[in-house]
Amino acid sequence: MSTKDEIVQALERLADDHAPFEQILATAVRMLHESHPRFHWTGIYELFPDNVLRLGPFEGAPTDHVFIAVGRGVCGTAVAERRNINVPDVSKATNYLACSTATKSELVVLIRRGERIYAQIDIDSHEIDAFDGDAVTQVERLADWLAAAYVRREHAAS
Ligand code: SME
Repeated sequence: MSTKDEIVQALERLADDHAPFEQILATAVRMLHESHPRFHWTGIYELFPDNVLRLGPFEGAPTDHVFIAVGRGVCGTAVAERRNINVPDVSKATNYLACSTATKSELVVLIRRGERIYAQIDIDSHEIDAFDGDAVTQVERLADWLAAAYVRREHAAS
């Protein structure tokens, strides 16, 4: 089990060592997934300029939802409405795209800086209402760190 501070520290070490960006994302996903027994699927979807989310690194069962259009599903709705979404019971969500029949609740946290949305962290749980305030805060802090990493990568490329 890692606390979120341990995750950020590990990511900062990777960044200091100039690790590839993909390795930083994959490490963030793996450590986040392992940090909580109620996280049964953990992944990052990146937002592409054609307004499609594309699946990046993930832990858990493979999903059919590799591409999700903005506005579709919980993931696409979070981008369209520019907000994080915590769904305590996916059976009651009309816009939910099933990844696994075992999933009962889902959390989507945007990786963003101001108006610019780079990606999102998506977590599924087999338990109803799995994401309490502490879990949401922890995921938001990690998303903030990753947003800063996206900003740095963008500046380095320009
Ligand atoms: N449930 C998501 C689709 C992605 S899978 O959970 C991995 C949605 O409704 O957008």
